Amino acid sequence: MERRYPVPWRTASAGRGGGMGGQARCALVFGGSGPIGRRVCARLVARGWRVTAVSRAPGLASAGVEWRRGTLPAAGAGEGFDAIVSCGPLDLFSRWYADTPAGAARVVAFGSTSLHVKRDSSDPSERDVAARLADAEARVAAAARARGAAATLLRPTLVYGAGGDRSLSRVAALARRHGFFVLPHDARGLRQPVHVDDLADAALAALERLAVDVRAYDLPGGEALAYREMVARVLASLRPPVRLWVLPGALFGLAAALARRLGAHDAGAAVLARMREDLAFDAAPARRDLGYAPRGFRPEAGMFEPPQAGSTPR
Ligand SMILES: NC(=O)c1ccc[n+]([C@@H]2O[C@H](COP(=O)([O-])OP(=O)(O)OC[C@H]3O[C@@H](n4cnc5c(N)ncnc54)[C@H](OP(=O)(O)O)[C@@H]3O)[C@@H](O)[C@H]2O)c1
Repeated sequence: MERRYPVPWRTASAGRGGGMGGQARCALVFGGSGPIGRRVCARLVARGWRVTAVSRAPGLASAGVEWRRGTLPAAGAGEGFDAIVSCGPLDLFSRWYADTPAGAARVVAFGSTSLHVKRDSSDPSERDVAARLADAEARVAAAARARGAAATLLRPTLVYGAGGDRSLSRVAALARRHGFFVLPHDARGLRQPVHVDDLADAALAALERLAVDVRAYDLPGGEALAYREMVARVLASLRPPVRLWVLPGALFGLAAALARRLGAHDAGAAVLARMREDLAFDAAPARRDLGYAPRGFRPEAGMFEPPQAGSTPR
């Protein structure tokens, strides 16, 4: 699903430095210490960008990245950069971007396919998440348009690959703690888990596009598989591997409710029901415009560990 915002076409500027005269281009990255942000920072540095990363706590030391402490939505100045990348909470970033002078720097901001998935959820708090994501995208689009800046909104599906994510790394942590993992037999909704490195490549491709426009892309992974199969592959990748128990739906419902009461997990009814729903998105627009070519789902145990100090992202 691609959304286009009407933006008058403008000539792309080379930006400050712009790779000319040997001067490095400068990027301001929000959320640089998160799972996606760490890989984006590493890619930028590898391509010769000077990176200023903003977060509330300083991130892990990383060559070529200067850390700035800031709390969105009041996170300091935005002028003097060729690019601004948001890898943290989109809602807060959109408020900072709308309220802070930032020139015509190219903007790449990560949102989420939750915008589609949770729009009609039975859970009001999930519908609120979807509405806030949609509002945030619209705010970024309007502010970019007013400045004549290019903006690309990237919506990943379920992210894995760098540890510390709130989905498969949590599944892995629960499975390690209890020595098993339980799913209902009909947890067969389609999923397209997407690797952080494919997202970082998409962000870099968006920064290097010549077109000055405002676009949004869904970014699914390169393979669609049943929820049950996705979890089974994660459990099989752990060292030692963890066993998956498949229960009849009614029995699973009782077990999940009891486990929630005991504090073993915090997944609500809407989350559990979604295991049966297909959540599949079209990568074709991103493939066409960003050369997006996500990998299939081949998990390895290290992908679900918390990040280590000094570890070098691939
Ligand atoms: N991970 C997923 O499964 C997934 C799936 C789909 C979409 N997304 C989207 O992709 C983006 C990145 O996700 P992510 O999981 O890599 O990271 P995240 O957990 O959304 O954000 C973490 C980063 O944002 C910083 N941050 C959080 N609150 C902040 C604040 N108030 N002010 C300044 N910095 C703040 C954190 O550092 P500090 O805590 O030190 O401030 C950290 O660097 C988000 O927009 C997310 O919604 C993620």
